[in-house]
Amino acid sequence: MSDGRQGRFITLEGGEGAGKSTQIGRLTAWLEGRGHAVKATREPGGAPGAEMIRKLLVEGPVERWDGTTEALLHFAARREHLRSTVWPALKKGSWVVSDRFADSTMAYQGYGHGADRAMLGELYDIAVGDFRPDLTLILDLPVDVGLARAAARRGTETRYESLPVAFHERVRAGFLDIAAADPERCVVIDATQGIDAIAAAIGDAVTKKLKA
Ligand code: TMP
Repeated sequence: MSDGRQGRFITLEGGEGAGKSTQIGRLTAWLEGRGHAVKATREPGGAPGAEMIRKLLVEGPVERWDGTTEALLHFAARREHLRSTVWPALKKGSWVVSDRFADSTMAYQGYGHGADRAMLGELYDIAVGDFRPDLTLILDLPVDVGLARAAARRGTETRYESLPVAFHERVRAGFLDIAAADPERCVVIDATQGIDAIAAAIGDAVTKKLKA
């Protein structure tokens, strides 16, 4: 579907409490200030059917699903999100900024839960095809800092947060591996900085990579 699209697809990734939502708001305003139409969205979710799947994933007991079932659910939600929200917006020329995308499945279900990474690549091909983000910003910070921030705003979506620290350490290492393997697409941002400094680093990355 990527043929002929004018908008760009930017994804923000990172562990719990990395500040992605705040930065999505800042990036959206920054891009709009440069004259782009922007659709801000999120995963799991971002479309009515995908939001229904989100509830199955982020609520309830940890042992509800194993890593493979989770991956299947995340890719089902992702396909619905792409079909209903992301691809139509890009087609209209909007820039799409998504709070999480497929790197989260590789980091959480692959590195975190140990689901087979080749299998995750195959699921990507089935559910997404040859479509890729134009730029992925990985907000990196120590696990203890992120979990403390996430706990402070705890609602009903606690399923992933309640996994052990070692799980979240594997997720963090996974995101850094993904970034190292794909430096053209991925930029790692130090998320221990203040909100303005992070927003500035994101603005620099977008300018450099996408000439926004
Ligand atoms: P959020 O807290 O950033 O909204 O994301 C919800 C949770 O879903 C978060 O703990 C990470 C998890 N997640 C995965 O495990 N795999 C995925 O593919 C995605 C998109 C999210």
